Amino acid sequence: MLVNATAMLQAAVKGHYGIAAFNTNDLEWTRSILLAAEELQSPVIIQCTRGAANWQQGFKVVKDVVEDLVDYMKITVPVAMHLDHGTYEDCFEAIDAGFTSIMYDGSHEPTFEINMERTAEIVKLCHSKGISVEAEVGGIGGVEDGVASNGELADPQECKAIADLGVDFLACGIGNIHGLYPADWAGLSMDRLAEIKALTGDLPLVLHGGTGIPTAMVQEAITNGVAKINVNTDLQVVMARATREFIESGKDLEGKNYDPRKLLKPGFDAIVKRAKELIVDFGSDGKGWA
Ligand code: 13P
Repeated sequence: MLVNATAMLQAAVKGHYGIAAFNTNDLEWTRSILLAAEELQSPVIIQCTRGAANWQQGFKVVKDVVEDLVDYMKITVPVAMHLDHGTYEDCFEAIDAGFTSIMYDGSHEPTFEINMERTAEIVKLCHSKGISVEAEVGGIGGVEDGVASNGELADPQECKAIADLGVDFLACGIGNIHGLYPADWAGLSMDRLAEIKALTGDLPLVLHGGTGIPTAMVQEAITNGVAKINVNTDLQVVMARATREFIESGKDLEGKNYDPRKLLKPGFDAIVKRAKELIVDFGSDGKGWA
């Protein structure tokens, strides 16, 4: 059974650990994430963007695959199915598809007022259905979006205004960026995180762009109120690297290694291994139903 992400993230805030939210790209990706979480008895959030959902033939397929694997693999830890960076329209589609958790990213709306109005509407709808809601304040850039080095810092007052709408967890820019960090990245702003935390209390905060941030810096952010850490690129990089090594060593030409179950296995094993390392780094191992 899938759960929403509220209880697991509230427990993480109280227990001073973080929960990984891994993006999925297909059935094997989901299976690898579930294997890692189950082996370490960690709660986990599996999330999906609109783009990755299109690749997998829609939000409903993604949710059905996650739900069926949880059942088939006899997963015992809490698993939430979360929409990552949903537009206003995406949110309704993912809700209809049975997602248990929704991120409405209103940070790209033309005005903050629109972000507020739409967040309020989505909170009301989701809470009537037992679905958790993440909102965003302060755009989280990416090198691919033309942001050269440093991510945005969210306005603490805006964070408080959105928090007061009743969202269950909040993504706020503290200098983080999606994708690989440039060499001259300034790091996370712990000062800004503290200012936001002072105004939002026990609300779980979300760190996007979890790939490539030094472990000690992520752990400091967790100590200061971050409870959900989004990781996407990291697992893509380890998957690609392991696949490249397999092919470059010529192993794909041996026997029946053209069989996708053999050709892609090193990549998926690499995802399991890396997901487990991150779960341990974030401290959620053994916290199954904490
Ligand atoms: P990375 O790809 O940088 O890990 O970021 C993932 C993310 O924040 C998804 O919302």
